[in-house]
Amino acid sequence: MIKFVAFMNNLQKNISLQTMNTFGIAATAQWFLPFKTVAQLREIFSHEIYKNNEHIVLGGGSNMLLTKNVDALVLKNEILGKKIIEQNNQYAWVHFGAGEVWHDCVHWAIENGLGGIENLSWIPGTVGAAPMQNIGAYGVEIQSVIHEVQAIEKASGIERNFSNEDCKFGYRESVFKHSLKNKYVITGVTLRLTKVHELQLSYGAIQAELYERKITNPTIQDVSSVVIAIRKSKLPDPNEIGNAGSFFKNPVVSQSDFESLKEQFPDMPFYPQSEGVKIPAGWLIENAGWKGFQDGEIGVHKKQALVLVNYGKASGLDIYNLSEKIIEDVQSRYGIGLQREVNVF
Ligand code: EPU
Repeated sequence: MIKFVAFMNNLQKNISLQTMNTFGIAATAQWFLPFKTVAQLREIFSHEIYKNNEHIVLGGGSNMLLTKNVDALVLKNEILGKKIIEQNNQYAWVHFGAGEVWHDCVHWAIENGLGGIENLSWIPGTVGAAPMQNIGAYGVEIQSVIHEVQAIEKASGIERNFSNEDCKFGYRESVFKHSLKNKYVITGVTLRLTKVHELQLSYGAIQAELYERKITNPTIQDVSSVVIAIRKSKLPDPNEIGNAGSFFKNPVVSQSDFESLKEQFPDMPFYPQSEGVKIPAGWLIENAGWKGFQDGEIGVHKKQALVLVNYGKASGLDIYNLSEKIIEDVQSRYGIGLQREVNVF
């Protein structure tokens, strides 16, 4: 006889989130429940545990800082799936479940000869978080390949398909971080990937590594492999040193502020944008003397000043306090208010 076990029986109490956030912070969740399907998600929405508690939807935990125990219901998105849903001679439309590990999907796309996300190789985290913050690296943002984002409205349980335009993408921004914040759970994405590839090789680091490898006519596989090598050389592996990638966003300043800063700091790198001038926060922080800073268990990474690290047993609050000090110092030296890229809980 098959025994029916109610899905909600999987609910766990007081569990450690240490292995579920890449900072490795030893915070606990009051309630914890992983879900694998949209039906299970709807079941959660109708349950009293959900109705009577605050909740957080967790993906790979790679862009979060836990400053205290989570006195809420933590819902871990484990919706899987990778498939080609449509194709022609030029493009393939692929669907990935929100709980898939992002890099596994990049790898799968490359194995299937599909391009467009090779520059986004080796970014930690899951598919569901990718459109939320419009992940980007080496001249490519996910917005360039997003066809649709599927999400369930929490209040109604109704599924909605967001077009690329609906997502209102910006630099590390989307509608899901603003007017629709906490209103939807992303369940999957559909990407339009290329069969005839247009490589984005404008970043100096990519060109230098290709030159080093004597590759003159790179494939998407080559680009991915080069990006992985660059990331590994600069960014700490969360399995070895707790971190959440770039802790701050790169600030965009007005043309006139930029000009006075450039006079004071002639070596400051900069990237002109349509809405102003982007300054690498890593340079601002390094130039202020923070690169490689360590105080007990917390620090600023030795090779990338934009990355704050947990050397072992740091608390989230210690890391948060360090980020406050850096923000104050950068403000007083350059008059620039850094914004955090990670979500603080
Ligand atoms: N720089 C320094 N010192 C540092 C770090 C950077 O002077 O310690 C200066 C250098 O001039 C360097 C420039 O900053 O040329 C840019 O550095 P890098 O190429 O390492 O990129 P980033 O601006 O620090 C951004 C993204 C990364 C992404 C890289 C590559 C943000 C917040 N971060 O970093 O994304 O991988 O570009 O495209 O936009 C992430 O979001 O977690 C992330 C790692």
